[in-house]
Amino acid sequence: MIPRVTATIDLAAIRHNLGVVRRNAPHSKVMAAIKADGYGHGAVPVARALEGQADAFAVAALEEALLLREARVQAPLALLEGILSLEEARLCLRHAVQVVVHDHWQLDILEALPHGARVSLWIKLDSGMHRLGFPLADVPRLWQRVAARPDWEFLGWITHLACADEPDNPATHEQVQAFARAVDGLPGARSIANSAGLIAWPEARTDWVRPGLMLYGASPLPGKIGADLGLKPAMRFESRLIAVRDYPKGAAIGYGATWRCPEPMRVGVAAVGYADGYHRALPTGTPVVVRGRRVEMVGRVSMDMITLDLRAVPDACVGDPALLWGEGLPVEDIARRAGTIAYELLCGLTQRVRFMHAG
Ligand SMILES: Cc1ncc(COP(=O)(O)O)c(C=O)c1O
Repeated sequence: MIPRVTATIDLAAIRHNLGVVRRNAPHSKVMAAIKADGYGHGAVPVARALEGQADAFAVAALEEALLLREARVQAPLALLEGILSLEEARLCLRHAVQVVVHDHWQLDILEALPHGARVSLWIKLDSGMHRLGFPLADVPRLWQRVAARPDWEFLGWITHLACADEPDNPATHEQVQAFARAVDGLPGARSIANSAGLIAWPEARTDWVRPGLMLYGASPLPGKIGADLGLKPAMRFESRLIAVRDYPKGAAIGYGATWRCPEPMRVGVAAVGYADGYHRALPTGTPVVVRGRRVEMVGRVSMDMITLDLRAVPDACVGDPALLWGEGLPVEDIARRAGTIAYELLCGLTQRVRFMHAG
């Protein structure tokens, strides 16, 4: 069977990108973000590829952590969104999952575990993003609670940056300073930077950095692509032509007849659509590569097909691969055309897509 839509994941590229992280933040430990199934690249293969190279991994939810443990990934693993119940706290203990605690009720849950239970925890502080985390003013009270539990393993303090991808925005400096002041003199590691933070904000390169997007080869900074930062794209998202037809001038193509052939021409159909994760907002003119040449997607994206202006590739045939994003066709560029960000496209591929991991 010939797979219609494939995502080929270059694990060597991900290791290369970890090297770029290390060069940017040579004095920091690296907690590699592999939530959302490794940003759509497969959390288990990514973790295996980086095991021994990243110092820890970060996932959002317990289900993700347990899948990794089931797959025998033994590296330190942090649960960024923390626990919701005592049962979850017990599972974290059993599977050696580090808990990120972002509210008092989560500390209540941990305190309900038997004394002597070796809970490993980070404390998340809200230094200005106002999503998760304790208010900075709570730190003295918090520290009293944590210091009262020498049976716990206290790992350190985490905060998250809201605007790190805006190099001219003073909010990041303010967040870093406020965080540093709040934990001044207290024990524990400090962790601030995501990809944009560690690239653009040297002051955010503290004990631990937490890169996600850049590991997969995409740029976290708007206006740049991964290659500008020395990164290699890890995903090659491809479909195939399943039809090639010649139409007369004026023929309308696809749903809504939104595009008409400006002259007699060849149109191809590639077997990919929004049911696969090819964004429906992508407009006419979005580039696709066929036989090494850029062609334009025309008309609307259907559930499982798109139509291509093949005038630039008259020799294109049914069965030819059609590159949707990957090396030579930056996902950042495709995302911009869809009015979104690379994060959403990369982690938006569906189960219809055949994944292949190499390297
Ligand atoms: C708390 C936290 N740290 C780190 C990351 C990694 O961010 P990025 O993919 O921008 O490097 C995320 C992702 O959203 C996050 O939520």
